[in-house]
Amino acid sequence: MARRSKRKMPERSDYMMKEQKKIEATLDPRTMQYLSKFFNKGVISRLEHVIAVGKESDVYMATAGDAEAVTGEYVIVKFFRIETSTFFNMVDYITGDPRFTKMEGRSKSAIIDTWCRKEFGNLEIASNAGVMVPKPYMFNKSILAMEFIGDEGNPAPQLRNYSMDIDEAERMRATIMDYVKKMYSAGLVHGDLSEYNTLVKGGVPYLIDFGQGVVTRHPHALAFLRRDIENMASYFKHAYGIETDVIKEYNSITGSDAADTEG
Ligand SMILES: Nc1ncnc2c1ncn2[C@@H]1O[C@H](COP(=O)(O)OP(=O)(O)OP(=O)(O)O)[C@@H](O)[C@H]1O
Ligand SMILES: [Mg+2]
Repeated sequence: MARRSKRKMPERSDYMMKEQKKIEATLDPRTMQYLSKFFNKGVISRLEHVIAVGKESDVYMATAGDAEAVTGEYVIVKFFRIETSTFFNMVDYITGDPRFTKMEGRSKSAIIDTWCRKEFGNLEIASNAGVMVPKPYMFNKSILAMEFIGDEGNPAPQLRNYSMDIDEAERMRATIMDYVKKMYSAGLVHGDLSEYNTLVKGGVPYLIDFGQGVVTRHPHALAFLRRDIENMASYFKHAYGIETDVIKEYNSITGSDAADTEG
């Protein structure tokens, strides 16, 4: 009897139970509890598969929920999960940022939660500054939900995997430098800008991965800015032979004199 009634269960719910089990196998109960808020708020309706496992996070696709702010069929859910090796590094990006002076304690989970909140806040600043970034939807503890950048369920390629002719590359380089300038004017430095952390959708670059972004008042903000410009310059140089005058870009972005940029 029991067997028979089980067989009568609708296929979808069978499938969902299997999916749920798969997810529970990879996410611990506490994380599942934090995630429930994303379902309750209608940001997501189902967690799909992992699309990237990085040093700092597991990035999942989810089916969008019915919340008004959510656009498109899919949502990206980023679960922060920090390894000890990068953990102390992370503290440097947080202390020195005046937004996070009130961080409670220094426990690993407090740092991870702050990192997540920081990425959310940085995405908001960049987005409000007119930079193309995934729209941030919500965060809770160590989980962040944002707009899915891609087409028909396929994530957009990273800049390093997107091929284009020289003219398009030059325009893209200029667009990215314009983003850097807009962010700087809004008080933000990305801090980890690269051909990995730039996705290209419909020929338009989108910047992602803002956890290490710092406000311009951070003592190392200018050094991070310089490194961001250099990283992009070296990518466009080796991939397309395009030269960037790093000093000139730096001065244009910060509005400073050439004499100020030594070192
Ligand atoms: N909003 C998004 N839309 C589509 N794909 C995304 C989005 N966010 C992240 N991804 C994909 O997931 C990958 C990892 O994301 P992200 O760089 O934010 O995480 P990370 O943990 O910092 O990873 P890493 O350590 O590799 O830098 C990205 O390179 C991209 O391919
Ligand atoms: Mg990344």
